[in-house]
Amino acid sequence: MSNQPAPPAKFQLTNTATGKSTDLPVLKGTVGPDVINISAINKDHGVWTFDPGFMATASTESKITYIDGDAGVLLYRGYPIDQLAEKSTHLEVSYLLMYGELPTSAQLEEFNRSITRHTMLNESLLRMFNGFHSDAHPMSMVSAVVASMAAFYHDTTDIFDPRHREIFAHRIVAKIPTIAAAAYKHALGQPFVYPRNDLDYCANMLHMFFAVPCEEYKVSPLAARALDLLFILHADHEQNASTSTVRLAGSTGCNPYAAISAGVSALWGPSHGGANEAVLEMLEEIGSVDNVTKFLSRVKDKSDNVRLMGFGHRVYKNFDPRAKLIREMCHKVLGELGDQNDPLFELALRLEEIALQDDYFVSRKLYPNVDFYSGIIYSALGIPRSMFTVMFAIARTAGWVSHWQEMIADPAMKIGRPRQLYRGATTRDYVPLVKRG
Ligand code: CMC
Repeated sequence: MSNQPAPPAKFQLTNTATGKSTDLPVLKGTVGPDVINISAINKDHGVWTFDPGFMATASTESKITYIDGDAGVLLYRGYPIDQLAEKSTHLEVSYLLMYGELPTSAQLEEFNRSITRHTMLNESLLRMFNGFHSDAHPMSMVSAVVASMAAFYHDTTDIFDPRHREIFAHRIVAKIPTIAAAAYKHALGQPFVYPRNDLDYCANMLHMFFAVPCEEYKVSPLAARALDLLFILHADHEQNASTSTVRLAGSTGCNPYAAISAGVSALWGPSHGGANEAVLEMLEEIGSVDNVTKFLSRVKDKSDNVRLMGFGHRVYKNFDPRAKLIREMCHKVLGELGDQNDPLFELALRLEEIALQDDYFVSRKLYPNVDFYSGIIYSALGIPRSMFTVMFAIARTAGWVSHWQEMIADPAMKIGRPRQLYRGATTRDYVPLVKRG
C-alpha cells in the first residue's frame, strides 16, 4: 500500500479573518488515507468546500471495493483482483460484492439457481425493442429498457424491504445480458434468442448473442471464460462516475431500475465505459505503427483535443492491475480464437510501448487502463464495437446493485445534494420584452 506520511490526529480549520477555529474529526478507514469530516464547516464558518471533479472528496463510506492507485491494488471485499480473476467466476464475484462474503457451495448453488430463473424478459418488455430504429446505439436501448423495468416488476419497488431489494438485485443481474442480447439482435434484424438454463452466465450470453434458429451454435469454452474474466475485472470500481450516479439517483428514493438506468447512461461517456469503443476507433484511425509518432504528437498538442484513449486513470497512477490481466488474456484469446497476428493488437502493443517511454505520459503517470485491451478481446469474440460499452454495463451491474443496496440499507442515508460556487448575476429586475430592444 502507499507510503503516505501519517496525518495528524486532527485537523483544525481557522478563519484568519474572524479567528474562529473548528476541530475537524479525522475518520479512519480500515486501509487507505484518512478522511477529514468537514460537515461542521458550514455551520461554524458559513462556507462551503470546493472540489470540482471530486479530486479530494470521499463522497461516501463503503465496505465494498478498495483501490490503492499508487500501488496498483484493487480489492473486492478485501480479495485481490488477480486472485479473483484466476480462481473465481463472475457470478461468485457478484455474490461477494452483494453479500460481503464468498458464498458456501450451497449459497452459490442457490444464487446461481435464482439468477438463472430470472433471465427471461416479460414479453411486453421484449416488444419494446421494436420501437427503436435498427441503427439505435445499443446503450440507448439498454438504458431505456432497464428504466422501463420499473413499470413491469412491481414486487421490487419497496426499497425499504430487504427482500424486495434482494429480488431486484438478482433480477437486474440476471436480465441485463438478456436485454443486451435483445438490443444486439434487434440491430441485426435477427430473431431474439431466449436464455438457456443449462448454460452458465457467460455461455448463455454468448448463445443469446450468436445463436440463430437455423443451425446449432456451440459456445466456445475459451470465449465464455474470456468474457467471464472481463466481467470479473469490470464488476466494481468503488465510487466511479456511473456508480456515484447510481448512488445519487438512488438517494432520492427513486425506483431502483431507474437508478441503474442512470448508471448505464453515465457509463456511456468516452471518459468512462465508452473508452473501450473509442480505443478501437483510435487504433483504426492510427492504422499502422508508422503513424504512431504522428498520432502521439497530436495527443501531446493541447490545442488538438485528442487523447490517447485507454490511457490514464483518475485513481491509478502506477498501473491498472486489470489492464495487465486483460493483456495476458488478449494473447490467449487471439492465439486460439482470433488472429494471433491481429494488426490492431500488434499496433496496441507497440503504441503502449512507445507511450510508456515518452516523457509526456511518464511525467503525468499515464498508463494503459482496463479499456486499452478489452475491445480487442471483444472483437476476437465476434462482439461488435457498438456493444463494447454494453458489455461493461453488464459486468458493472453487480457493482451498481451492491452500492445501491449498501446505501439504502444504511440508516444514515441522506439524499445527495451538493452545493455550488455561484458566479452568475445577482438580483436584478425583470425587463419587459418591449423594453429589451
Ligand atoms: N491522453 C493524453 N493526455 C492525457 C490522458 C490521455 N488519455 N489522460 C490524461 N491526460 C493528461 C491531461 O491532459 C492532463 O495533462 P495536463 O496536466 O498537462 O493538463 C493530465 O494528463 C491529467 O489528466 P486529467 O484529465 O486531469 O485526469 P483525470 O483524472 O481528470 O482524467 C481520465 C482521467 C480517465 C478521464 C483521463 O485519463 C482520460 O481522458 N483518459 C482517456 C479516456 C479513457 O481511457 N477512459 C477510461 C478510464 S478507465 C475505465 C473507466 O473508468 O470506465
